[in-house]
Amino acid sequence: MQVWKDYQAENKDRFLDELLALLRIPSVSADSRYNEDTRKCAEAVKQRLQEAGAENVEVCATAGHPIVYGEKIIDPSLPTVLVYGHYDVQPADPLDLWHSGPFEPVIKDGNIYARGSADDKGQFYMHVKAFETMNKTNTLPCNIKFMIEGEEEVGSANLGIFLKDNKERLKADVVLISDTSMISLENPSIDTGLRGLSYMEVEVTGPNRDLHSGVYGGAVANPATILAKMIASLHDENNHITIPGFYDKVQTLSDEDRKALNAAPFDEEEYKKDLGVDELWGEKGYTTIERTGIRPTLEVNGIWGGYTGEGSKTVLPSKAYAKISMRLVPDQDWHEISDLFAKHFEAIAPKSVKVKVTKHHGGSPYVTPTDAVAFKAAQKAINATFGKDPIPVRGGGSIPIVALFEKELGLKTILMGFGLDSDNLHSPNEKYGLENYYKGIETIPYFHQYFAEMSK
Ligand code: BES
Ligand code: MN
Ligand code: MN
Repeated sequence: MQVWKDYQAENKDRFLDELLALLRIPSVSADSRYNEDTRKCAEAVKQRLQEAGAENVEVCATAGHPIVYGEKIIDPSLPTVLVYGHYDVQPADPLDLWHSGPFEPVIKDGNIYARGSADDKGQFYMHVKAFETMNKTNTLPCNIKFMIEGEEEVGSANLGIFLKDNKERLKADVVLISDTSMISLENPSIDTGLRGLSYMEVEVTGPNRDLHSGVYGGAVANPATILAKMIASLHDENNHITIPGFYDKVQTLSDEDRKALNAAPFDEEEYKKDLGVDELWGEKGYTTIERTGIRPTLEVNGIWGGYTGEGSKTVLPSKAYAKISMRLVPDQDWHEISDLFAKHFEAIAPKSVKVKVTKHHGGSPYVTPTDAVAFKAAQKAINATFGKDPIPVRGGGSIPIVALFEKELGLKTILMGFGLDSDNLHSPNEKYGLENYYKGIETIPYFHQYFAEMSK
């Protein structure tokens, strides 16, 4: 629409400056040293929502970081879109690998470099600016509610409670989220699903204290060696996961669905080159697209124990640890999988060590129905600004709250992400393309327009 185009062209620089200001607030949810900044960030989001024209804007306290809520109800008889996003970010470390400060955004080669630029400040803020565009040009076609949380990166534990307590306030027809990626700006895509997650920590204890590795080594089991063996045994020679019952509830896709999934453009050589690996790895019998979308996986996120400082120290450590997560697909239940993991890990421990398994957070997988009106509206919106239909793909990441939107509020979710897999999410030098940012702001109003029209 021309009025949108004009408004966005006139305000282009301000749209960017405002995002950069948000990126300067280090809202790291995992680290309590940033609690004050995280709260400040929530206040900033509140102010920006108010300036854009949202009403009843509130920073809602939770047992953890606050949730920012705001809305614009133009006519209760019109459809309502609930926009979800998160203003919290992952820790920035390792700091020395950043080319510029993680909270001092820099624009280079058409990208905004900063922690949270793509995940998710740059993406949720597109919705604030798209809303402003529609609101200030008096073209809002439906009601909008915003719920921007501060604990997504740490498992959204308090958001579930907020949903239960605010069912009336959050009443809507669909949830819209930009917190995923596209294949590329040339090959726009929409995620039709997210994987679930089960996150565990294990502690393996050998002798009751650290020992001299020359005096005792060879006579006492080294917990680091045992842990390495136990972890290695979690995949078999075909890279299938060996936990009994792990695959019992995994939905298998029809040959037709698998074919459609694999029709998405994917350049294996380019992929390997980008990652600096000579060969790919994964579950036998599945393509890379399938391994990262429709199949469950198990990854070691961290492993430590013994001496890891400068130089050398000859020691047989008393303890070794690992953080292990599993990505889940329909219909795996994350509580059940966590239990299966714990049981198996305890069962495979030799008598020479003791094992303690702790469960961290988790979440259920989600699949978007592609025949839903809202999905069609998203497809049409992308076509309106990219000039081609988006390719449906399965996202490999997790947004645990999405399954709860369905369970608690009965709402389907549309994952209209504008990031790229190469945006370095959770990694040093996170970036978000300026073009992705502006394209998102341009596309989102069309979603609201088409969703309102097609819901009639
Ligand atoms: N935005 C991501 C999820 C994502 C990224 C989905 C890319 C699809 C493609 C989200 O912020 C995230 O990082 N989620 C975590 C889970 C959470 C419980 C910490 C994840 O996927 O590891
Ligand atoms: Mn995110
Ligand atoms: Mn994230």
